[in-house]
Amino acid sequence: MASRADVANDIANRRGFFWPSFEIYGGVGGFYDYGPLGVLLKDNIVDKWRRTFVLPYQDLIVEIESPIIMPRVVFEASGHLEHFTDFIIECTSCGRRYRADQLIEEEMSRRGLKVRVEGLGEDEMMRLIREHGIRCPACGGGLDNIRRFNLLFQTFIGPYSDNIGYLRPETAQGMFVAFKRVAGLMGRRPPFGVAQIGKVARNEISPRQGLIRLREFSQMEIEMFIDPQQPRCPLIGEAESYEVNIVSEDMAARGMEEPVTVTVREAVERGIVVNEWMGFFLALSQKFMEELGVPRDSQKFMAKLPHERAHYSTQTFDHLVYTERFGWIEVSGHAYRGDYDLRRHGVYSGEELILDRRLEQPRIVEERRLYPNPGKIREVYGDRVGEVIRRIDENRDALLEGLTSADMVKLGDITVTRDMVIVRSEKRKVEVEHYVPHVVEPSFGIDRIVYVALEYAVRMESGRNFLAFPPEIAPLKVAVLPIVRRDVYIGIARDIFRSLSMAGIRAAYDDDGSIGHRYLKFDEVGTPLAITVDERTPRDGTVTVRDRDTRIQIRIPVDKAVDIVRAVISGRNIVELARAAGYEVVAQR
Ligand code: GAP
Repeated sequence: MASRADVANDIANRRGFFWPSFEIYGGVGGFYDYGPLGVLLKDNIVDKWRRTFVLPYQDLIVEIESPIIMPRVVFEASGHLEHFTDFIIECTSCGRRYRADQLIEEEMSRRGLKVRVEGLGEDEMMRLIREHGIRCPACGGGLDNIRRFNLLFQTFIGPYSDNIGYLRPETAQGMFVAFKRVAGLMGRRPPFGVAQIGKVARNEISPRQGLIRLREFSQMEIEMFIDPQQPRCPLIGEAESYEVNIVSEDMAARGMEEPVTVTVREAVERGIVVNEWMGFFLALSQKFMEELGVPRDSQKFMAKLPHERAHYSTQTFDHLVYTERFGWIEVSGHAYRGDYDLRRHGVYSGEELILDRRLEQPRIVEERRLYPNPGKIREVYGDRVGEVIRRIDENRDALLEGLTSADMVKLGDITVTRDMVIVRSEKRKVEVEHYVPHVVEPSFGIDRIVYVALEYAVRMESGRNFLAFPPEIAPLKVAVLPIVRRDVYIGIARDIFRSLSMAGIRAAYDDDGSIGHRYLKFDEVGTPLAITVDERTPRDGTVTVRDRDTRIQIRIPVDKAVDIVRAVISGRNIVELARAAGYEVVAQR
């Protein structure tokens, strides 16, 4: 019998949800096109993400859009030029290149051995290859020349070959680079978050898992900027009693993979997560995936060990979902990035990417201050006294430092001697201090979520396989079907289809083939409702509405079609709606 994954794959292929790009030229690994239904599914998932992560918190989280191509300096600052690498290994006979960790894991699992290779160094990987006699899977040749391979795609900006740019490997850098602007717009008062949804690119070494590992894919990310001294999350009340399945860093270090179930409150109190924000986003992410059709038991958060984490992170949880086809896959990553990114961009740009914090206890600090001594300056520079005072004013700090060790400092053609300034020690009350905000980052890969939503939607019943998408993410919400192809039915059905389209509802019209065949056709791609114009419609102005999952039908007035479809998209079911409005419930077909 076919598995859920086989059915998902078959429907996606046949009905054109997505397919390998550049097919007519033989295809290029790691690139996929989305077809008409795939685009709708993907857009609905993005929309659901916005309604889960951004809209309810719109006073705290705003969305921006930044370029995909970025200048070299951005990735020098972000550390990606140095650290964003995977190990590559080469066959000494056929020259094929493999991602070393992936090859070792696959070869070991073929032999029934489980090893965690992620994060190991080149010596340790070579040792595993030698010890287990791992050879080139294509030709059986030896493997050698292990080295780091940078995953950034390089390009040139404009017509100058020295003006190097890179395609962004995460949307995050756009948010860090724009921090100063967004901080201003948010009143410079943390916590505040910046979200971004968009394409990213990674030159993956050997992508072979369809939508799971792509060279160009889409992300939905939030960078939540917080004051590390006040890491409380004002939204934690919404999430603290929520239970999450988690493998803590301690557990991961002991090789455990089975999660424990704890409330978010417990996870914070026991220090499993670094702060409330991290706990809040884990809860929201689990809920998000549950609402896309993935039960809680098929999800877990796995802590990454220090050597497995990205260079910017001091705590990371991979949000894993179990799939029939690929086993556990990471749909989102949750990283505590600390002040790494803003600090680095501050240094590389020369801009201060900081916020102010009001001190609870103002501090008194003693400072040396320097003032011009006009009498002495006039003695030396006569009428130029005003100009010299201005120059001294502009160079106070340099003069304070310079005149500590020397008797005079030159400012262009002006020589400032010690007696031309007065240095005093003064006390000052400090009420604010500067700090670099810290960042909590939930980061989602959209394409993986599309695959997961598809696999979890599969239902196999005798006589039909279909996708039971939650209505809010279903690509088409409703099919409008005249019972047979006759003008009298076609006219009414076309009018209904037009009114649904005008109301912004994704719908289809179809009059081709038997009604039973058409129901199955729309069930298969996950369309929650079918409206049928039948023999009674011209007589009494009613149509039937059929529910995809139960096949139950109700009979409603034609002019209620838009309202019913909207109600189902927002989570109501048709029987409940029929009872409330007194509509006839027709037995299932
Ligand atoms: N800003 C942090 C960041 O990019 P990541 O764990 O590298 O973190 C985030 O990526 C998410 O992007 C992952 O959880 C995964 O869902 C998705 N992702 C990563 N690499 C991918 C690839 N090659 N193809 C498809 N999705 C990918």
